[in-house]
Amino acid sequence: MTDVLDPEVQPAASTADATWWRQASVYQIYPRSFADADGDGIGDLPGVTERVPYMASLGVEAVWLSPFYPSALADGGYDVDDYRDVDPRLGTLDDFDAMVAALHGAGIRVIVDVVPNHTSDRHAWFREALAAPAGSPARDRYVFRDGSGPDRAEPPADWVSIFGGPAWTAVGDGQWYLHNFAKEQPDLNWANREVRDDFLHTLRFWSDRGVDGFRIDVAHGLAKDLPEGPLPTWAEVLASPKDGQHILWDRDDVHEIYAEWRKVFDEYTPARTAVAEAWVAADRRARYASAEGLGQAFNFDLLEADFDAAQFRTIIEFNLGLAEQSGSSTTWVFSNHDVVRHATRYALPARNGAEEKQGSAWLLAGGSQDDLDRDLGLRRARAATLLELALPGSAYLYQGEELGLHEVGDIPDAERQDPAFFRNPGVDVGRDGCRVPIPWTRQGSSFGFGAGGSHLPQPAWFADSSVEAEDADPDSTLNLYRKALGLRGQLQSEEHLEWLETGRDDVLAFRRPNGWTSVTVFGDEPYDLPSGELLLASAPVADGALSGVGTAWLRS
Ligand code: NOJ
Repeated sequence: MTDVLDPEVQPAASTADATWWRQASVYQIYPRSFADADGDGIGDLPGVTERVPYMASLGVEAVWLSPFYPSALADGGYDVDDYRDVDPRLGTLDDFDAMVAALHGAGIRVIVDVVPNHTSDRHAWFREALAAPAGSPARDRYVFRDGSGPDRAEPPADWVSIFGGPAWTAVGDGQWYLHNFAKEQPDLNWANREVRDDFLHTLRFWSDRGVDGFRIDVAHGLAKDLPEGPLPTWAEVLASPKDGQHILWDRDDVHEIYAEWRKVFDEYTPARTAVAEAWVAADRRARYASAEGLGQAFNFDLLEADFDAAQFRTIIEFNLGLAEQSGSSTTWVFSNHDVVRHATRYALPARNGAEEKQGSAWLLAGGSQDDLDRDLGLRRARAATLLELALPGSAYLYQGEELGLHEVGDIPDAERQDPAFFRNPGVDVGRDGCRVPIPWTRQGSSFGFGAGGSHLPQPAWFADSSVEAEDADPDSTLNLYRKALGLRGQLQSEEHLEWLETGRDDVLAFRRPNGWTSVTVFGDEPYDLPSGELLLASAPVADGALSGVGTAWLRS
């Protein structure tokens, strides 16, 4: 190990640095499943505050908190009752302020989730809309239409929601409202000026409380263009080109909204940042990431790829090119609260081009750990993460991946919470398996999550993956992440890389401008590393050769 670079040294964040986000490592917290300070079985904001030393020891530069707003949890908090408050089960606004102060005190920035496509059905606006007549200003904040058929008893169209089932729900007076997600998530009408102004208010509300940036949920969905007359069929909606004029998704005029948001972000010093969750074709991502818009956009391409050298290289080259075009930096993601954890995806046979989401067939078949090559999955996940952390751009890490956690696939049906499970029986098992509360200790009813048990069941194998167990093991995944993040903070340089010849199809190697070199072996055969000082490796290095399925960092 080098004598100059110290993996224990964490970079000090400068609050004045306006470009901090370009190559940040961002740790995603799903608050209900992170740490439960008051022992009610649900994670909370004081729990996050208590764990700030843990995040500081990890060496992340920012945290992104999934929604902590008041919510009935019809969609894990992405059904928001009030955008400018904290769910009482998770704490208070004072707790939020204390959490921000503690994170900032540790040099960690704070990103919060904004959910602008839909409110919850308990939001004051939606209640008002239900109490108001058709055609009223209250209904105009949402997307209401008359039903079809006699007595308007049929939906206005046969549209299907993203969680399965109909996308229109009746309110009892012949009118129906649109919900592209669960029925508890009515879509807002972004043509309504009051809706736009209220979100500007929300952005300022959290910015004034010290929030550094925002993650924008379903950023490609806000602008819609539904005709007043008969609506197209679902088949027609699906067939219409996604060219910026689509009736529902990724319309060009959505960027007018973000241009207004940008003005708000720029009222602050440093400017507040934003990252778009926009499931759009890669060549349409740049506008979301532009400096006049949100500034950065998620790229889920690596998350959707198999553990395969050729796929990884194509994706990396393509996205670095896109970032250059937009002037933004690129983003990398392997795991989040919506997908099967990457250690588990990589423990399954490759899809060989099949369209299904990786892991969905395994989940449907019962999600047994016995069907996984757990060890291989973890070795691949460690290698992939080390590669990711050496790339130019921002890395978004999801709570628990630093423990190498596998997906909990076998949650009993009676304990599942995700609407995707209830709305799509036999088709979609949902996302609960990556949202199981974090194991902090080897023992205890909730492995140290909180005194009141855990709102989703934790399996016995969590003990060996707990923070306590891994803290004590110098070779654990937790300590690998700590070393990698510490080194990354010291090694970061311009946002470029140069590919190196490796002589093997299953080995990728690249060098950053300052000589930081990353070598990943995707296959099983060891690989002789190029000359240079070995900084870190996810797998054994013997006689200068990195064993199969591993990544090594060198300085040359
Ligand atoms: C994307 C979020 O990541 C997901 O968890 C949520 O269900 C949908 N948007 C709807 O808000």
